[in-house]
Amino acid sequence: MSNRVEIFDTTLRDGEQSPGASMDVREKVQMAIQLDRLGVDIIEAGFPIASNQEFEGVQKVAEAVEHARVAALARALNKDIERAAAALAKAKNPVLHTFLATSKIHMEHKLRMTPEQVLQAVDTAVRLAKTLVPRVEFSAEDSTRSELVFLAEVAQTAIAAGADVINLPDTVGYTTPGEIRAMFEYVIKHAKGSEGAIFSSHNHNDLGLAVANALAAVLGGARQIECTVNGIGERAGNTSLEEVVMAMHTRQDQYPFVCQVRTEEIVPSSEALSRITGLAVPYNKPVVGRNAFAHESGIHQHGMIANSKTYEIMSPESVGRKRSDLVLGKHSGRAGLAKRSEELGYALPEDQLVQLYERFIALADKKKEVFDDDLRMLITSINNESFETYHLQRVNTSGGDLPIAAVQMIRGDATYEEAATGDGPVDAAIKAIEAITGVSGTLEEFRIRAVTPGKEALGEAHITVHIQGRSITGSDASTDIIEAAAKAYVNAINKYLAGQTMPDQNQG
Ligand code: KIV
Ligand code: ZN
Repeated sequence: MSNRVEIFDTTLRDGEQSPGASMDVREKVQMAIQLDRLGVDIIEAGFPIASNQEFEGVQKVAEAVEHARVAALARALNKDIERAAAALAKAKNPVLHTFLATSKIHMEHKLRMTPEQVLQAVDTAVRLAKTLVPRVEFSAEDSTRSELVFLAEVAQTAIAAGADVINLPDTVGYTTPGEIRAMFEYVIKHAKGSEGAIFSSHNHNDLGLAVANALAAVLGGARQIECTVNGIGERAGNTSLEEVVMAMHTRQDQYPFVCQVRTEEIVPSSEALSRITGLAVPYNKPVVGRNAFAHESGIHQHGMIANSKTYEIMSPESVGRKRSDLVLGKHSGRAGLAKRSEELGYALPEDQLVQLYERFIALADKKKEVFDDDLRMLITSINNESFETYHLQRVNTSGGDLPIAAVQMIRGDATYEEAATGDGPVDAAIKAIEAITGVSGTLEEFRIRAVTPGKEALGEAHITVHIQGRSITGSDASTDIIEAAAKAYVNAINKYLAGQTMPDQNQG
């Protein structure tokens, strides 16, 4: 058996399904490009039948991705499979991922199907998928609570119908390392044709065992791991990509497997996801948390100075963690700025470069030292603006007993002005923005953080707003935190307005 383990990233599908992680089409494409740079083998881009926006997200990711295969999810239903295949039409290497539950509890209570009907549906679904897309993955949902003999029969049926990959998910995060290894060994041994298929492990983290279970599955014969950046996903999340990859990388003695992830793109991917979704990474998160390489105690610091291997099992550089480098000063010039932006992975068109330079100079005037993270934030802000319906031109606030905000906004050629009072300056600014746009929502979450150290640091605002039954995230930055919050709110409203032109049509 080969020792190559493929990494199937489902950040944009299972990850995106989790509360607070939703991404619009443009954000999915941005993240997919970073995942491609990270070197994952497969990017699962979405569930096309779920809505028009999901469909378009898969389409656009399929067009944008250069190297990885692009997968789309479908229930074992003709309409789902046809819709997923249509969304993948432009992918260079498409994968159709279809699934059906195989545990007794799911078959009886959710599907209301007998085991024979499930086998028949698996056969029909995989055969149809295979006529539409050359590579098909079949997932036996809730595998880890399924009866082993039946599970092997399901896998055999899917393989006979043409499935290339058999995924045995721990849908509810219930299994343990010993048990999952035995499950893979059993199914691979008993399902006829298994030697021609790749077995895959997809684990949820309800008991904090997702990474351990994925590694055990590989020891049991799995050669594909499904995972997400920062471990985001349904409930407690999925197998965390950075943890499982670095575990194999660091413990080759225990896991002598090869995967082609570029580990130095791990931290940039984690940061990109966090920036796009606004979901903060816990400080103590392995590999990507802010404290993952911080040494506080004197004894540890002393050891580190003598030899970093005393307390570090992997180097921060190996996962792409750099100190926030001082990039440029006020006199650095446009060419230097363009070069640094390119090094950070942003190829900006000329007009955006002009805007970036103006903002960079303004920022350098205020805070003297401009770091990579500042630059990333400025670029994100410019990128947001190139898709906006409303642009926040100015916000002036005054505090005191009756906080007031005066807001100026632009839409096309028209300029709008409004003033409003509120509980505080941010609340007043939001009310004025709502009066101009005619869109109002309820603020569910509001966070602000300094992008880089220092009194004049850029403040990055992340908000979640509930508008007309949808939770929409928005983010933006400014050296003025009230302006950052107002811009983040406008970003959410723009996303809402963009979504309105593509109404959700849940056909599931
Ligand atoms: O957790 C799960 O079972 C899934 C399947 C659709 C693969 O996400
Ligand atoms: Zn899942």
